[in-house]
Amino acid sequence: AYVVTEACIKCKYTDCVDVCPVDCFHEGPNFLAIDPDECIDCTLCVAECPVEAIYAEDDVPADQLHFIEINDRLAKVWPVIAAKKAPLPDHEDWAEVTGKTQYLEE
Ligand code: SF4
Ligand code: F3S
Repeated sequence: AYVVTEACIKCKYTDCVDVCPVDCFHEGPNFLAIDPDECIDCTLCVAECPVEAIYAEDDVPADQLHFIEINDRLAKVWPVIAAKKAPLPDHEDWAEVTGKTQYLEE
């Protein structure tokens, strides 16, 4: 499955959801999670994300591995998002920031 990582936090551009053929993105307050049981590994979402937040599970950077569990867990409780919407208001300020896991709202 594909995995959303910390670059998404506090940005949530949502370009990714428009291309997903199986609507497996789920929306929380400041992050999206992919349901690994629904993702068909089509790869289409990867190129859509302006901050390159999405990786194949096998390619998730070492410092982002905790997001595999985070996507699995939160996709099960958050609602599906299937259409693009406006990014979060402060997205430009947060797009380049690293170490954002601490700001993830569940
Ligand atoms: Fe959806 Fe394809 Fe991305 Fe999986 S890889 S989340 S199926 S767009
Ligand atoms: Fe997040 Fe990138 Fe999608 S910022 S909402 S993974 S387009």
